[in-house]
Amino acid sequence: MLDRLEPQSPDALLALIKLHAADPRGDKIDLGVGVYRTEEGATPVFAAIKAAEQRLVEEQDSKSYLGPEGDTGFVNALMPWIFGEDATMGGRIAGMQTPGGTGAVRLAAALAQKAGMTRLYMGVPSWPNHAQIFADLELEAVPFDHANADGTADLDAVLRAIRAASPDEGVLLHGCCHNPTGIDYRPQEWERIAEAFEASGAFPIIDIAYQGLGRGLEEDASGLRKVLSKVPEAFIAYSCDKNFGMYRDRVGAFYILCDGTEMLDKAFSNANALARASWSMPPDHGAAAVRLILRDNELTQMWQDELDEMRARMRQVRDRLAEAGMAGSVDLAPLAAQNGLFSMLPVTKEQVVKLREEHAIYMAGSGRINVAGLTTGNIDRFIDALAAVTG
Ligand code: LMR
Repeated sequence: MLDRLEPQSPDALLALIKLHAADPRGDKIDLGVGVYRTEEGATPVFAAIKAAEQRLVEEQDSKSYLGPEGDTGFVNALMPWIFGEDATMGGRIAGMQTPGGTGAVRLAAALAQKAGMTRLYMGVPSWPNHAQIFADLELEAVPFDHANADGTADLDAVLRAIRAASPDEGVLLHGCCHNPTGIDYRPQEWERIAEAFEASGAFPIIDIAYQGLGRGLEEDASGLRKVLSKVPEAFIAYSCDKNFGMYRDRVGAFYILCDGTEMLDKAFSNANALARASWSMPPDHGAAAVRLILRDNELTQMWQDELDEMRARMRQVRDRLAEAGMAGSVDLAPLAAQNGLFSMLPVTKEQVVKLREEHAIYMAGSGRINVAGLTTGNIDRFIDALAAVTG
């Protein structure tokens, strides 16, 4: 039976981790997978997480099952950070813990499909796993252009997609720090997007995996809040893997916005059943640590300070790249206005291979770079190599 299966190539982004690890060159630069790195090139555990884990070891008195919805204390503690002061929007939002943001996107897609969605619109390029998840569920993903060639968001394209979508068709948006382009909608553009959703009735699915890594915790959630304030229903996929540095602990949440308690209960019960049939229950540890942080003022402050520092460092890297202007044929100036870990460089696949083979610089085949992989120690070498390869 198994002989019928076609071999699958490994996920290109995850394969890069192994390629980079196997490279013996001492001056190699990793701009591949999306993890934050310090000026020293490390991805340390947040001090706030360490402190919370310590407390967890002392205080946790059982590891007995919690249920498909996971740690509801964690799910609720996150809500004011995502949705603002009226965290449940008058009792219209409910959520559950998921294995990472990926689990949340998967659950959103599966629940949408169960409710009858067969098609959704998706800006491209996007995080490659979005397309894989939708294809796996046989949800048709209709592409539209996310960005213009000048490095700004293509507002007309997203508005057209929202207008074209019917109420049982979705439109997937990135809440902030667009992956892979770093190009986010500006506040006035979110306003137009929210109005378009209100007019068309299209179903918003918002993936927010980098809150706090763009402009600030509040700023990064403001677009999403504008959309939610105008629509009766929506799904939100959230990840703590980056903004709490919990990558391998898989800490995510899925939220449902509905137009009434009865409908919310019904949708939630279906999400619960899907989670049970998929992973039964999410892994506990990371979410419990995040809950402890968000319920303690001192730890919350510590976490916010660490997040501020990360954001400031990435901003410095972006400013330094933008200052360099042209590197060969690549204009780095637009990178200053972009947000988060990623930017996409207009380089060919051959140039990406050349950068890897001749300069030990690792980036995704699409030309996406993780700006957090650059430091004061390696940024000039990167700019020079980019100029050499594309000039
Ligand atoms: C990325 O895009 O690099 C991250 O979201 C990691 C992943 O799972 O792909």
